[in-house]
Amino acid sequence: MDRLFFLTSNSGKLAEAKDFFLPLGYEVKQFLIEGEIPEVIEPQSDNLQLVASSKIQQAAAYLEEIGEKGSILVEDAGLFIDELNGFPGVYSASTLEKIGLHGILKLLDRNANRGAEFRACAALWDGNKTTLVEGICRGIITTEIKGSGGFGFDPIFVPLDEGTGRTFGEMNKQEKGLYSHRSKALNLLKNELC
Ligand code: IMP
Repeated sequence: MDRLFFLTSNSGKLAEAKDFFLPLGYEVKQFLIEGEIPEVIEPQSDNLQLVASSKIQQAAAYLEEIGEKGSILVEDAGLFIDELNGFPGVYSASTLEKIGLHGILKLLDRNANRGAEFRACAALWDGNKTTLVEGICRGIITTEIKGSGGFGFDPIFVPLDEGTGRTFGEMNKQEKGLYSHRSKALNLLKNELC
């Protein structure tokens, strides 16, 4: 089975990528060097693609340095809320940490425009070249927290395509995988690997 090193500290993202790539014959492993996630510098940019491509270049250099063989996956995601001009976007992780889901709901208060989208930008380095793709999932932000599944913003995000009005937090991983930004991005990468 081929190995795919995923540079991430997010266990939710790692689990989703493992489920996605296993049937394709890839074992997704967290990218660790001597048990630690290698430190990469995240460029200050509001562009997810730029962030992902800088991170994959740094990760590829690390892999070469330690003499390992394998492909590398990097994926940067964020929640872009229409009414807030795309905020929190690339600041999703720090915003979630600082104000939590309740804080996001409060920012929107009773605002009728609850449109938002998740974007995931994935980069794959196959040992020779980097492929960059983006997956988008449109949805709406709920008025209350619903469900305890998934991670991050899942309990306040209802994907539009799914049709039952459930949040990602009310779905299991397989159900979320049918609609998520991450699956869309990884599906595009699949063609590169197979
Ligand atoms: P990052 O790509 O790991 O930096 O993610 C940025 C922030 O968005 C983190 O707080 C994640 O928890 C959140 N996030 C990323 N992907 C998802 C998702 O699929 N569902 C919910 N939250 C997500």
